[in-house]
Amino acid sequence: MSLAFCGLELEHPIINASGTFDALAARRVFGDDLLAQFPFAAFVTKTVTVEPRAGNPPPRLWELGAGMINSIGLPNKGLRGFMAEDLPGLAELPVPLIVNVMGFGADEVAELVSALDDAPEVRAMELNVSCPNVKTGLVMGADPRELAGLLERVRPLTARPLIVKLTPNAGDVPAVALAAQEHGADAVSLINTLRGMALDPVSGEPWLGGITGGVSGPAVRAIALAQVHAVAARVQIPVIGMGGVCTGADALDLMRAGAGLVAVGTESFRDPAAGTRISAELSALLGAESAAR
Ligand SMILES: Cc1cc2nc3c(=O)[nH]c(=O)nc-3n(C[C@H](O)[C@H](O)[C@H](O)COP(=O)(O)O)c2cc1C
Repeated sequence: MSLAFCGLELEHPIINASGTFDALAARRVFGDDLLAQFPFAAFVTKTVTVEPRAGNPPPRLWELGAGMINSIGLPNKGLRGFMAEDLPGLAELPVPLIVNVMGFGADEVAELVSALDDAPEVRAMELNVSCPNVKTGLVMGADPRELAGLLERVRPLTARPLIVKLTPNAGDVPAVALAAQEHGADAVSLINTLRGMALDPVSGEPWLGGITGGVSGPAVRAIALAQVHAVAARVQIPVIGMGGVCTGADALDLMRAGAGLVAVGTESFRDPAAGTRISAELSALLGAESAAR
């Protein structure tokens, strides 16, 4: 199942979704066994911002019958902390490293992209555009013109592949994807979480510290399939599909809808070896498909 994706050689099409697999923590628990049997064909970091972030107040998770709502709030060490403390360990992973970044406006994204471009171990960058531009108040990934402005600013800063991670909380997601393509993105990835909410059953008040959170897991799978299908029909650049993938059959569905790679998110909390299992299931399904031809 090996393939080339934006110039990266990958052993199979299954990667992790940002923020759902902590490779450094997993290495501390599983030791070098993790490196010998790494579950994903590339590793995508949790979102890195310019300044350190503490994240949202607790509670941060609500379990749904078919997934979860998280209001983690992107806690991270910030750019300098990431470069000094996390990057050396992540560089030891046996797969290409993709760093996911988010800025509150084009200036911050430019700072992140320029700094990461100086680090040869960073093989690609994923731009999380689900947050508002502080200058305009508009969510950068929800508006084609906002996204075009962002890419005009950051595209010249690196020759590494730039993946735009689209938000599903947008009026016309394929139009945003098309703007990404027209302004130099090498790939798009989708879907990020959908805005959702849960109430404390006793008090009736919002359960999550962030009031609302992001819905993920099997609950969003059908939405992911529809959005990947619509985006892949509109753009020629590669598409990374994600949202509720739990099995090889779910991954195959996203590939049939037009995804070249598939990312596994929430399922890794239930089964930390999900990436390995899902790529084996996908390989068996693709093998059976080609034998039937
Ligand atoms: C706990 C949690 C943390 C996440 N953190 C990030 C993040 O830091 N950056 C990001 O771009 N997406 C983040 N996501 C979104 C996932 O990468 C993915 O787009 C989404 O969960 C859909 O995939 P899934 O249904 O397989 O989980 C997070 C999702 C979860 C559940």
